Amino acid sequence: MKKVTIAAMLLSIMLGACKKQEKVETTTLLQLYPEKIMDVTTATVSTVLQEVNTDIIVGAAINSNRFSNTDYKDLAKLHYNSITAENDMKMNSLNPTKYTWDFGILGNGIEEKNEKIPNLAKDYGEKRIHGHALVWHRALPQWVKDVESNTPVGVRADTLNAIMKRHIDKTVAFYSNYYKGGTPLLPLLRSWDVVNEAYYDDGSLRGNLNLDSEGNDIGSIWKRYMGEIYIEKAFRYARLAARANQNWKLKLFYNDYGHEYSTAKLNAIYNKVMELKPMKEGGDPIINGVGLQMHIRYNTPLTSIKAAIQKMKETGLLVHIAELDISLLGSGETAVPAADLTNRRNLQKSLYYNVAKAYQEIVPIDQRWGITLWNIGDADSAWGLNAEATLFDTSYQKKQNFWNFRDGLNLQLTP
Ligand code: GLA
Repeated sequence: MKKVTIAAMLLSIMLGACKKQEKVETTTLLQLYPEKIMDVTTATVSTVLQEVNTDIIVGAAINSNRFSNTDYKDLAKLHYNSITAENDMKMNSLNPTKYTWDFGILGNGIEEKNEKIPNLAKDYGEKRIHGHALVWHRALPQWVKDVESNTPVGVRADTLNAIMKRHIDKTVAFYSNYYKGGTPLLPLLRSWDVVNEAYYDDGSLRGNLNLDSEGNDIGSIWKRYMGEIYIEKAFRYARLAARANQNWKLKLFYNDYGHEYSTAKLNAIYNKVMELKPMKEGGDPIINGVGLQMHIRYNTPLTSIKAAIQKMKETGLLVHIAELDISLLGSGETAVPAADLTNRRNLQKSLYYNVAKAYQEIVPIDQRWGITLWNIGDADSAWGLNAEATLFDTSYQKKQNFWNFRDGLNLQLTP
């Protein structure tokens, strides 16, 4: 029931009780009876996220190493109609050594790690699974990194090209032939992040060796030897693999972060995606969508978030808010100054509301791939406990973030 309707009901009651009052402004009623308005409106909107707005799929990142926690699993089951494996489908999980594949289906049918994600999806309400991520500069198995030390420089481009193609072929094939049921049979995965995080914040491509403070290469081995064309090749290989396995509807995404804080990066991503958009394999486009990770902070300006979503919407492709979480920490901070905690929590919860609202205001229904929250509760978040970045606290109880996000998904609840 819309607020306007409820306000109108209250209006007629007030008018009946107070004949002299010819005209009572709705705003006055809302001010007089806010609790009545909230009682009625909250009762009409589901408290289960996946039911709040049938035009927005709500997803969560999940991690098989958390499944022993019943609260975690129950929340994953209840609230989300899409899931993304936080780590279980990255290259170092699926293909840890050159000759080992860990899809979790052994010849004797014993379940292994990666079988759990499909099982969660099937057992708990036929969830959509978004694959993450085929080609990334991180989460590489050591045997791939070793190409730089054990292969002559002249053959590294060909070697890495062969490795990348084999990984995409095998992974897309496996999940294309893993059916969730239905008639005709539906493949379990509906989509893949094909390339993740190709750009630096200044809009240049990751490439040259660039070690961070922990010794991880934040350059990209793929670009370093294969050149910029690795991005297009990855998408072509993914589309070809999907077609070879009769997976006609698989959606292929480019995924990255920082659209909201770097215009240079936003433009670089836009330009690359627009370059890929007309390309086809067997008549099918090689790219279908773009993911904005949206790892943001309590003080990220809403205008920048809207501009980022708007620009990605203008690609005409599917738009996925792919990894949403909102940290209470400022850049470089490891703890929130106590005096600012309440203020930051308030800003954070408003942003949860406003991101959900902006998504539906900017992205037309046929371009929505949904909003995926990155992790279930604060204990699971890569930001760490002090960031309090998710919808559920460390005991998996709903926080105010949950209610604001829920309300943002359903604009009937707009104050
Ligand atoms: C990036 C990746 C994710 C995850 C986060 C940190 O956003 O795309 O898979 O590793 O970093 O949680």
